[in-house]
Amino acid sequence: MTDSEGIQQLRQEFVTVENGLSTEDFDFIVAANGDHPDLHRLRRLLRRRQLGEPREYVVGFQQFRGRRFAVDKRVYITDPELTHLVDAVTARAREILETEKRPPVIVEFGVGCGSLAISVKKEVPKARVIGLDLDGDAIVVARDNANHHHADIWLMESDLFSGLPTELVPDIVFGDPPWGDDDSIYDDDRPASHYHAMPPLSAFPTGGITGLHEAILKDIAKRGWGCDIFLNLGILKAADRDRLTAMTATSEILSFDKASVLLCMMSKLPKVDQIASTPSRSY
Ligand SMILES: C[S@@+](CC[C@H](N)C(=O)[O-])C[C@H]1O[C@@H](n2cnc3c(N)ncnc32)[C@H](O)[C@@H]1O
Repeated sequence: MTDSEGIQQLRQEFVTVENGLSTEDFDFIVAANGDHPDLHRLRRLLRRRQLGEPREYVVGFQQFRGRRFAVDKRVYITDPELTHLVDAVTARAREILETEKRPPVIVEFGVGCGSLAISVKKEVPKARVIGLDLDGDAIVVARDNANHHHADIWLMESDLFSGLPTELVPDIVFGDPPWGDDDSIYDDDRPASHYHAMPPLSAFPTGGITGLHEAILKDIAKRGWGCDIFLNLGILKAADRDRLTAMTATSEILSFDKASVLLCMMSKLPKVDQIASTPSRSY
C-alpha cells in the first residue's frame, strides 16, 4: 500500500460522523507527520485525538506568531488570542528602549511552555526577559523551547513573584493568568474539555474567576513596583474587569476581536524616580 492509500484508508476510518474526527484535525495531524508517515503511529495519534486529547499534545507542538514550540501535557497550550498581549508588550518595550535608551526588564507571570516570553525576546532582542512559573515541569519545557529558539531568557520557579531577587524591579509585568470557568471559553473549537486536559493549575484559577489576577495586582502593589502591567482578560465580562480596574492606580482596557487586555499600574510613582533609586534594575 502506498502512503497516500494508507492515509486515505485512515481518513475513511476516522473522518466519519460516528468517529467524530474533523477533516481539519485529520489534515493537521497528517501534515505534522511528514510526507512518509509511519501509518501505525499515525493511527495511534488519530485515535488519541478522537478520544479527546488536544491536537497540540497529540503532535507535540503548537505554532505561535510563526514559531514552533514544543508542548506536552506538562504545559498549557497557548491561546492564539495571546498574540495581542505580545503585541502590546513588545510595543511598550520598544518605547522604553527608544525613550529611555536602556533595555527594559520584562517579567512574565506564568511562562508555561515559554511561547510568550520567547516571542517577546525574539522580537525585542535587547529586552531582558524573565519567565516565572509555579510549576517546575513547565519551566523545563520553557527552557527546552528557549534553547531551541536561541532565546536568552531567564526562567525560574516562583509562586507569584517570590522567586525574583528582591532588588529586581521590572519595567513591565505581563501574563495570561488562569482565568474564567467552564462557561467562559473563546470559541467552540476549544470547549471546556480542551482546558480540562491541561495541568489544573494552568487553566483554572483559585479564588474565583479573577482570583489570580487579583493576587498578582496585590503582590505588585505590596512590592511598590510602578511598572506597566499587561494581563490577559480573555473574554471576561465587564463586571469582572471592573473589579480588577478598581484595584489599580491607573488602568485601560485594550479590546481586540476576541479578547481584551488590562493595561494598568498599581502605583503612580513617576518611573524616572524609580530608575534613579533602583541601581540594580539590570541583572
Ligand atoms: C494560562 S497558563 C499560561 C501559560 C503561557 N503563558 C501560555 O500562554 O502558554 C498560566 C500559567 O500560570 C502558571 N501559574 C499558576 N499559578 C501560578 C502562581 N501562583 N505563580 C506562578 N505561576 C503560576 C501556570 O503553571 C501556567 O503555566
